[in-house]
Amino acid sequence: MASNIRINGPRLFSTLMDLGSIGATPEGGCRRMALTDEDRLGRNWLAARMRDLKLDVRVDAVGNIVGILKGQEEGPAVIVGSHIDTVGTGGRYDGALGVIAGLELMATLRDLGLTPKRDLALIAFTNEEGARFHPDMLGSVVWAGAKSPEQVYAERDAEGFVLGEELEKIGYKGAEKPGFLKARAYFELHIEQGPVLEQEGFGIGAVTGVQAITWLEFTFTGQPNHGGTTPMKYRKDAGLAAARVNLFAHEVTQRIEGQLANMGVIRVEPGNVNVVPETVICTLDLRNPVDALLDKAEAEIRAYAQDIAEKAGVGLAIRDLARFPSQPFDERLIARVEQAAKAHGHSVRRIVSGAGHDAQMMATLCPTAMIFVPSIGGLSHNPKEFSTEADIIAGANVLAEIAWEEANA
Ligand code: GLV
Ligand code: MN
Ligand code: MN
Repeated sequence: MASNIRINGPRLFSTLMDLGSIGATPEGGCRRMALTDEDRLGRNWLAARMRDLKLDVRVDAVGNIVGILKGQEEGPAVIVGSHIDTVGTGGRYDGALGVIAGLELMATLRDLGLTPKRDLALIAFTNEEGARFHPDMLGSVVWAGAKSPEQVYAERDAEGFVLGEELEKIGYKGAEKPGFLKARAYFELHIEQGPVLEQEGFGIGAVTGVQAITWLEFTFTGQPNHGGTTPMKYRKDAGLAAARVNLFAHEVTQRIEGQLANMGVIRVEPGNVNVVPETVICTLDLRNPVDALLDKAEAEIRAYAQDIAEKAGVGLAIRDLARFPSQPFDERLIARVEQAAKAHGHSVRRIVSGAGHDAQMMATLCPTAMIFVPSIGGLSHNPKEFSTEADIIAGANVLAEIAWEEANA
């Protein structure tokens, strides 16, 4: 039966733009940070679209939204999904594409009057970005049982808002137990968020897995003092210590193969031009495809930070914000992505994901694969994030084909 189903491309694209209009920013991007009012509006919109398609809509205890198209037989479901939260300066594609492609698959099956053998479900996971609450992939972490709802309810954002309360405030602390729907396979379509596919001229990426990720937060505590009167040798400068750690982390990336480092937050107190910084809170996002190399980089940076803090006479506390090992995907399904892409006439290459994804948590539960489409200019976490309509439709058709096939296997 219809293994050659084709989604409605223009409808997919316009639905994606509809979601993008919720939390739209003047720069053409999107700001729908997890559990904010914009996220609530996006969620309400999504749940309404799921209901329009007569899906059974459920919300779990951490706000993961699940839409189920009942199959002909009982048993584990084939799940497709991603997230609709964004970073503060996000685009319209990261996460949204995977959710909207899932919605379009459901709409196509409804158009064709097709019911799969197995349940087919779409999940929009809570707080994938980790830009507001830590860790990233929080909804899928709980779904996969790696943390309990109670553990994550206590998480606070930078302003001190508590996750459990924010979830209740937006009306998405649901009744279902995370992980309530058993998974037979999981698929996620996503933009690449990097330059490789476009630069090398490939239409589709068959993702082999996700690299290892560690997020650290450093709090340096020095002594605020007059920036003009205090001789350099008498300063206890928290800002200088943080700057040195940033430079050292960069240096480590030049020595350790595949190592990446990003100091994305640097908050300086009191933050006056003529006051020696008292407190600096800064973060490092460290990644490497090889777990042992990431461990080595992290150990070197921690030791350096301790040493530099001591020499500068400043206090140091280091907090773990997130930690994920590298996660390979399922070889059979990776090959299936390649095969489907070729059968649809697209060039395809295997690629390791640099970004974290809900798929890496789902891969701890069931055979999992991801499909990437090119990001123009390699831009992501940026309002100018863009993928072409043709590439998006190509990716969505590959997703539809393999999800439909697995749902009938
Ligand atoms: C999630 O978007 C990440 O930071 O990889
Ligand atoms: Mn994403
Ligand atoms: Mn992202």
